[in-house]
Amino acid sequence: KSIFHFETIDSTNTYAKKIASEEVDGTVVISEEQTLGRGRLGRIWDSKAYEGIWMSIILKPNILPYRTPFLTIIAGASIANALNNLGVSVGIKWPNDIILNGKKLCGILTELSAEIERVNYIVLGIGMNVKNLNFPNEIENIATSLCKEGYDLSRVDIVREILCELEKNYLEFIKNENREKIIDTYKKYSVVLGKNIFVIKNDDRELVECVDINIDGNLIVKKSNGAIKEVMSGEVSVRG
Ligand code: BTN
Repeated sequence: KSIFHFETIDSTNTYAKKIASEEVDGTVVISEEQTLGRGRLGRIWDSKAYEGIWMSIILKPNILPYRTPFLTIIAGASIANALNNLGVSVGIKWPNDIILNGKKLCGILTELSAEIERVNYIVLGIGMNVKNLNFPNEIENIATSLCKEGYDLSRVDIVREILCELEKNYLEFIKNENREKIIDTYKKYSVVLGKNIFVIKNDDRELVECVDINIDGNLIVKKSNGAIKEVMSGEVSVRG
């Protein structure tokens, strides 16, 4: 297995996708800086030199494409475990934002190449703010970094811990198809479970209660009229 390390690159996810067909399961691409870091929903991801962990992992699991979202769940649970092991108690905001003291510390961008019945590869992109002290105005109130919250951790230690946890949970899923244990871990960190949350779709938002997270990693919510619904995608916010 290889680790590709760059001083600067457009985006580790973009690079990982370029090399994915030639590389093996578990290949890592990491860069000190990204000039075109990408976030979910077409957003940009601010990735200044030495300030954070900008990393992508190429996965080639033998699973059906519809199972892909579970890998994001695995990544979320693994990152939360990794930080917890290093003494930082974080939460997970569904589906995959890592939250520290109510603000976003880390995001995950999963990209998939698949055919009807098989996955060619999955690129799991992880962006974690470590040393950043200044954020762009638009996200100043919603984003944070480990440094800003008073944690002085080495990026190498964090990467090592994330890769260890991720490998353990990934193999548990691939080899033993054990999703229960991973979901249990995920639920333990969830900041939406048991809360009143807004489910945001397009320009609409609906206030519901999150009553469970099921074995697929989807939210089970109760609407104000009592109806129970499964939420499989989109964005949520916890009612403040
Ligand atoms: C999000 O919007 O929450 C996901 C952010 C993902 C950012 C990471 S940084 C490494 C990898 N390369 C990218 O261009 N994006 C992901």
